[in-house]
Amino acid sequence: MKSTNSRTDISPERAIEANIHVHSQLARTGEYARSPHFRPENRQHVRRILESLIRPHLGARPWRAIDFGCGTGFLIDLMHDLIDRIDGIDITPEMMRQVDLSPGNIHLHESRAESTPFPDETFDFATSYSFMDHLFDYRPFITEAARVLRVGGVFFSDLNPNRAFIDAISQAASARGSALEGFPVVHREVEGALNNGQYYERSLGVDAAMLEAAEPIKTLSRGFDATEVMSFAKDVGFSQVRVEYEWFLGQGPIINGERPKDAEVIRQYLRLVEPVAGHLFKYLRFVFIK
Ligand SMILES: C[S@@+](CC[C@H](N)C(=O)[O-])C[C@H]1O[C@@H](n2cnc3c(N)ncnc32)[C@H](O)[C@@H]1O
Repeated sequence: MKSTNSRTDISPERAIEANIHVHSQLARTGEYARSPHFRPENRQHVRRILESLIRPHLGARPWRAIDFGCGTGFLIDLMHDLIDRIDGIDITPEMMRQVDLSPGNIHLHESRAESTPFPDETFDFATSYSFMDHLFDYRPFITEAARVLRVGGVFFSDLNPNRAFIDAISQAASARGSALEGFPVVHREVEGALNNGQYYERSLGVDAAMLEAAEPIKTLSRGFDATEVMSFAKDVGFSQVRVEYEWFLGQGPIINGERPKDAEVIRQYLRLVEPVAGHLFKYLRFVFIK
């Protein structure tokens, strides 16, 4: 159960093996389809974001998209009617076997996201969802995305763990100790943010050390530093970069308590004061234009 020592053993190749192992198991057991991001309200939310990025930004059709780490097709399902051709890239065949190919404009490739088989400037739109933290290093991936996008093309990457959030939770846990139990909304985040492998081992029945090796950036670096990622994106050729913050601390309990309007008011307020409230959001969404 203790997984701390295994963290030092994570290497680029072990991350690949762990990803294939974990995702094959999650796909086979049907557990992957129960991931929270598949809930209808999140699908609607992501669909709206995709619409706002595709129609106003991409210019004249036909449009070609690449979805990195496409898995079972979460983003492909949400954009196949908005895009003329989509190429999905993944290393886990058992995940890709579940992609719905019936729309007819979807092409799948078993390939690492860091080195795809496409010529330079092939795509108008490059996407990833719940993917970047599964890499050992995000930099070769962003470099590859910049290479295969045409000038003016858009890169969209969502559900990336926010290091500032994980650090804030971690500081609260060490400062308050067991007193944190008096703050249930914060307390329930501690396990997910700090003991991710063990948390999912209990809920999904997948080996904790394997899960931690499958999410190296979360396990080893506590997620992403937004400024650092955007600065790297500029270095590899993106001309415009921005980050948006998703899913504030306590948003789930408020929505599940059937107060979605309250959640929206709080979200809008926190967006208003974002420069000092970024650490209250669990995830980062990156939008880069080449
Ligand atoms: C959490 S799943 C996300 C799948 C899908 N994007 C979604 O939102 O449901 C992460 C996916 O990334 C894939 N993956 C991990 N490392 C990869 C790499 N280096 N290249 C391509 N795919 C990779 C895994 O096989 C898995 O299908």
